[in-house]
Amino acid sequence: MDFFTSRADHASSDDHAPIARQRRKIIVAFTGATGSILGIQTLIALRSLNVETHLIISKWAEATIKYETDYTISNVRALADHVYSINDLSAPIASGSFRTEGMLVVPCSVKTLASINSGICDDLISRAADVILKERRRLVLAVRETPLSTIHLQNMLSVTQAGAIIFPPVPAFYIKPSSVEDLINHSVGRILDLFDLDTAAFERWEGWKRN
Ligand SMILES: Cc1cc2nc3c(=O)[nH]c(=O)nc-3n(C[C@H](O)[C@H](O)[C@H](O)COP(=O)(O)O)c2cc1C
Repeated sequence: MDFFTSRADHASSDDHAPIARQRRKIIVAFTGATGSILGIQTLIALRSLNVETHLIISKWAEATIKYETDYTISNVRALADHVYSINDLSAPIASGSFRTEGMLVVPCSVKTLASINSGICDDLISRAADVILKERRRLVLAVRETPLSTIHLQNMLSVTQAGAIIFPPVPAFYIKPSSVEDLINHSVGRILDLFDLDTAAFERWEGWKRN
């Protein structure tokens, strides 16, 4: 299949297979913080790890994808197995009865952080995140803003107490990056580590290197 060929949004053929044989399922949401390439590279990594992805893109995420990258929205949608409108509160992922391992919001704006923290489920991103928290599944928020206000910090603390993991995509200079791509691969790799998925696309720290 061509890399960007759109896949139909239908139930996967293994939906009724015993759990042990089913593909792992993860929800990925993009919001309007800068760093849309992080979400794109996360989708690419999940695809190469054979994880079934369920994608939601906010209106402002669409704007940042167009502004910051060479991807079209349909290119990005084609990287996922299932794509939902942010307004579709009847989507399977709006219910806890639809089983997934968890959800990544990457990048995550402080607006979406605030919505999730306050339990406002008026769009599919905040509703799906609310479901993940109530079902005690894994929720990772790659919150991106700087500097941070008291409101941002309080929301991050409160959502962490509710079970989410805050993963600010801050660069690790100890990897001695030779490109922005190195930094992106490192962040994406560390985000997916939180789901016990190994992208094998970055070097892990093994102590001081001796030359
Ligand atoms: C180019 C651009 C960059 C932005 N960067 C950030 C950012 O890094 N963090 C953030 O919280 N909001 C950022 N915003 C503002 C959000 O897009 C805005 O608050 C929006 O309402 C977020 O909505 P959403 O969470 O539904 O996508 C940015 C907006 C634009 C246009």
